[in-house]
Amino acid sequence: MVDVVAPDAGGIARAVAALRAGDLVAFPTETVYGLGADAMREDAVRAIFSAKGRPPDNPLIVHLADAAQVDRVVRSWTPLARRLAAAWWPGPLTLVLDASPDVPAVTTGGLATVAVRVPDHPVAQTLLREVDLPIAAPSANRSGRPSPTRADHVANDLGEGVAVVLDGGPCPVGVESTVVDARGDHPLILREGSITREHLGALDGSANRAARRASPGTRYRHYTPDCRVVVASPGDASQAATGLRDEGWRVGLVATVPAPDGVIELARFVDAAGLAQQFYAALRAAETAEVDVAVVEAVDEIGVGRAVMDRLRRAAAG
Ligand code: TXA
Ligand code: MG
Repeated sequence: MVDVVAPDAGGIARAVAALRAGDLVAFPTETVYGLGADAMREDAVRAIFSAKGRPPDNPLIVHLADAAQVDRVVRSWTPLARRLAAAWWPGPLTLVLDASPDVPAVTTGGLATVAVRVPDHPVAQTLLREVDLPIAAPSANRSGRPSPTRADHVANDLGEGVAVVLDGGPCPVGVESTVVDARGDHPLILREGSITREHLGALDGSANRAARRASPGTRYRHYTPDCRVVVASPGDASQAATGLRDEGWRVGLVATVPAPDGVIELARFVDAAGLAQQFYAALRAAETAEVDVAVVEAVDEIGVGRAVMDRLRRAAAG
């Protein structure tokens, strides 16, 4: 079993010692739990890939305590990146910039760029400050599984390879950070998140979704639980669930309405932010409850709704 510890002074000290020794530490961020290692050590970063079963050409995000520390891993900033960092860091925004030659190729997946982020979570902040190293951290799930938003999700997915899991409770945002290529004059969104194109566009007037240049990670199978996932339109979720129940399936529901008789309530939400927060946990709850089908009520594709619908469609396609 993995060692799950409270993020008190003792827990942080153990995590810091493990990271300095080149070992893996899972820690909470405002988005999802990350599986961290010293980003500048090849052996440590390789251990992340093997613990997750992650394809080696999928690059990692490097986490830092503040914007000043980012200079350790990027070759240069752009005026756009400065503006975005000033507006949104610490926060769920990842910036892609030209990589410093000091960053090992295993961290960047062999790219000339590096993804950097300053997370807004007290445990992540304390850990990054105390360890004082750039920390590479993908989501702490096994590759292809729903991202972990609670410490027990990490413990269930990953085994021996992880030295310490810091338990910071449920992650407040629940979907991964927005990834933006910040090398040009305008932000190019490579992965949607809770910092939306409306937010970025308000700053810049011109945030674009880079359809053909999506993050390498979006090529891979993602976010798939062990059951079928069906998307229901708003207002239709309860009926869709009842219909499937009547066909004889064991059905779970994630919706704004209560589950009808004979359907298992996996999660209830009131708005897109609420669905984002509970989405991955609901997929894992569907597995624990051994449902055949999870019916999830769709949300409008504005704001964070775009990020959560992106994840929901991937889960439904899996
Ligand atoms: O919220 C998050 O971003 C979480 C927490 C732990 O910080 N991390 C996370 O990491 O979601 P991961 O590895 O699951 O997703 C990283 C995404 C992948 O889609 C990857 O392809 C993309 O970022 N990425 C990393 N480096 C990149 C680069 N240099 N250029 C383009 N995309 C990059
Ligand atoms: Mg991931």
